[in-house]
Amino acid sequence: MSESAARSPAKAVAMIVTGSIAAYKSPIVARGLLAAGVEVVPIMTRAAKQFLGSATLAGLTGERVFDETFDGEGGERHIEIAAAVDAIVVVPATADFLARMAHGRADDLATATVLAARVPVVVAPAMHPAMWHHAATAANVATLRERGVTFVGPVDGVVASGDHGFGRMAEPQDIVQALLEQLTPTPNESRSQALTGRHVVVTAGPTVEDLDPVRFLSNRSTGKMGFALAEEAASRGARVTLIAGPVTLPTPLGVERVDVRSALSMQSAMTTALGEDLKQADALIMAAAVGDYRFERTSSEKLKRSSEEMVLTLVPNPDLLATVGEARAGRQRPVLVGFAVETGTDQAIIEEGRRKLTKKGVDLVVANPAAEAFAGDTNRAFLVTAASVDSSQTLRKSELAREILDRVQKLLLENV
Ligand code: CTP
Repeated sequence: MSESAARSPAKAVAMIVTGSIAAYKSPIVARGLLAAGVEVVPIMTRAAKQFLGSATLAGLTGERVFDETFDGEGGERHIEIAAAVDAIVVVPATADFLARMAHGRADDLATATVLAARVPVVVAPAMHPAMWHHAATAANVATLRERGVTFVGPVDGVVASGDHGFGRMAEPQDIVQALLEQLTPTPNESRSQALTGRHVVVTAGPTVEDLDPVRFLSNRSTGKMGFALAEEAASRGARVTLIAGPVTLPTPLGVERVDVRSALSMQSAMTTALGEDLKQADALIMAAAVGDYRFERTSSEKLKRSSEEMVLTLVPNPDLLATVGEARAGRQRPVLVGFAVETGTDQAIIEEGRRKLTKKGVDLVVANPAAEAFAGDTNRAFLVTAASVDSSQTLRKSELAREILDRVQKLLLENV
């Protein structure tokens, strides 16, 4: 928690609670803010009251909980609150509330206050993953991000219905942290929007090499790690190009996705995204499991069975990452991150990570044990750089994505 915010008792925040089951966590956010010396002005929507009693927030904050724009005493409460606070936090933010914010609605005290205020706005969405991934929500989120609204979460996890995915509200301490960062901007950019203005290219999933219209050569990559990385980079404000092999994952919000199939098509999409001189991107994260070989010949007709032995010739694909590493030699941009899925002991995996770091001329290699890397939602990794090796515990892919992006961000901010 920010020390300097804690020393600024004059700061006040309007905390808007909307109608999601995650509303029960909003008092924890209020407590965190109060503990940091921030005054909390609570506002509840009508739907929020179905989930949380206003007495809880009133008791905690020592403030009356507002819900109506007009109280019969004259004056316009939304204007008064908007003028009095230093930031607004919406916790939780429903899909409906985001839609109303995006459209500039002012049909209750909460939306009218957001519309009237000229202060940082932090939102912590909470909804079913299907609603979060809906194109309508995606468009509203993109609009709000563009207008400078800071999003904290949602995070990957189990939601109220028991389903799993992105939709779960971020942890209260992360919401408090994001808000305090808005109240006391530090010279070092905060994690929340630190990649604003940067272009991050992420590759994900397998590549597929066709033999004929029905047969192909591929691998077991699901793309989950790359998609988690793209999502994390976008949530930090980066412009993200996600170059994806054939996978069945929804596109993370705010991410530009380019679908490819073969290694060569991935390479040409990378050239477009990075630019011939590599100057169009600040970082390349190569999470794709690129096939090392392709068929020498691809038949446009289905190959017919015969009683003869069949010999198929494979020719090597270019090493896409090493090619970029070589082209970048002597420069620090774009920051390059490679993956290495390996079998063997942890020590052997680390050694292989080191070997690939040098061989491919990159800044960071994420080395995974093969048995844990594919298919699941978790991963364990060794983060290998020229200077150090950090080993992670078994983490959700979204958590590992955060660890990796922390390092990419550090490299980007160190070597401006
Ligand atoms: N990679 C790539 N192009 C390829 C193969 C791999 O860009 N043709 C990238 C992957 O995206 C990954 C990294 O290189 O980031 C390591 O992939 P891996 O398959 O472990 O590398 P190889 O060089 O094929 O290693 P090995 O010697 O183990 O076959």
